[in-house]
Amino acid sequence: MKDKPLDSNPFRYGCVVEDSFYCPRPALERQLAGFIRSGQNVVIHGERRMGKTSLVNAVVRGMRGWRMLYVDLLHVQTVGDVCRRIVSAVRNLERKASVFEKALKLLPRLRPVMKIDPATGEFGFGLDARAAEDPYAVEEVIDMLAGVAAGGRTVIVLDEFQDICNLPDAQTVLALMRGRIQFQGDIPYVFTGSVRKRMVELFDNPDSAFYKSALTLCVGEIDRDSFAKFLRRRFENGHRRVSDETVGTIMDTVADVPGDVQQLCEAIWGVTSGDVGAKDIEAALQVVFMREGDKFESFCERLSPVQFKLLLGIARIGGREIQSRAFLDAAGIGNAASARKAAIRLCELRYVYLFRGEYRFSSMFFKAWLLRRDY
Ligand SMILES: Nc1ncnc2c1ncn2[C@@H]1O[C@H](COP(=O)(O)OP(=O)(O)O)[C@@H](O)[C@H]1O
Ligand SMILES: [Mg+2]
Repeated sequence: MKDKPLDSNPFRYGCVVEDSFYCPRPALERQLAGFIRSGQNVVIHGERRMGKTSLVNAVVRGMRGWRMLYVDLLHVQTVGDVCRRIVSAVRNLERKASVFEKALKLLPRLRPVMKIDPATGEFGFGLDARAAEDPYAVEEVIDMLAGVAAGGRTVIVLDEFQDICNLPDAQTVLALMRGRIQFQGDIPYVFTGSVRKRMVELFDNPDSAFYKSALTLCVGEIDRDSFAKFLRRRFENGHRRVSDETVGTIMDTVADVPGDVQQLCEAIWGVTSGDVGAKDIEAALQVVFMREGDKFESFCERLSPVQFKLLLGIARIGGREIQSRAFLDAAGIGNAASARKAAIRLCELRYVYLFRGEYRFSSMFFKAWLLRRDY
């Protein structure tokens, strides 16, 4: 089936993509759907903007009779945050006030109150702030999830799960969560995480409460041929031709990261009105730099001279063997110990991450921006 011709920008980034904005990933989708159907818990690893949330969303939407209880745990800081995010997720799922009210009754310790906006009819909730900060409150909300999921096919998605580690009492909370989840054998839980190191700690470390509690799925770049075909079709539907070679260059420019590819294409669309060529990529990059240059500037201001040299070195030379003499000389760094220390900091700031022995930029736009500056 052909999509309708597009007048508006056909590329989206920074959000979950669905329908025609989503490029299918059949192999991963089949695998995930299979795990969910058999009631397995799954942990999904993958860097940011690789498409984890979009994948889970597409899979559950495609499974007839199933629904998704989606909990976003990004930046949670306290147990109360976790409780409120989980209850919010239930509210988003249950469209009927009476059903939601019934779910709230499963939280006696948290003394929930139902709030209804008289003007719009929209409903919300409040929890006892003190009770919600008690780690044991987590048991109650996890048990509530079982109540909500009972009798229906419900997948519970805990997105950006690694951020639970931000909690001061993380270990207790994790142990309590795991303790309850293990009694919910027939409900599939999907844990996704963008910080590989932390997720591996959580699921592959024998000392962790979640050790070996879920099957693993890795979400990396989208298969190049199908993503290239998808992108070309998006351009062509808007009456713009683009060669395979140009699509290849677009993908090379941002190392195939799906979110960055879409962001670059969105900008290319903005600077073109007809066919798309290689020179448009550079113009589009300039548009992105105009929007994000200040942010990149402030990223750099946070760095010590050595950290900055290392960052620039990784951009120019590549992120392998940063402690080798050749790298240190080329980057102008005195010794291996300084490079090692600086690398730890760059990882903490999440400017780069370590992947199979190579430091890679979290944002390829940041890298491209650095390479075009006169440092
Ligand atoms: N399957 C896909 N097809 C097309 N674009 C995608 C796909 N998956 C991800 N993207 C792009 O990446 C962006 C981030 O996707 P998201 O699912 O939020 O990633 P993650 O959860 O891994 O951070 C989307 O806004 C979109 O631009
Ligand atoms: Mg996500």
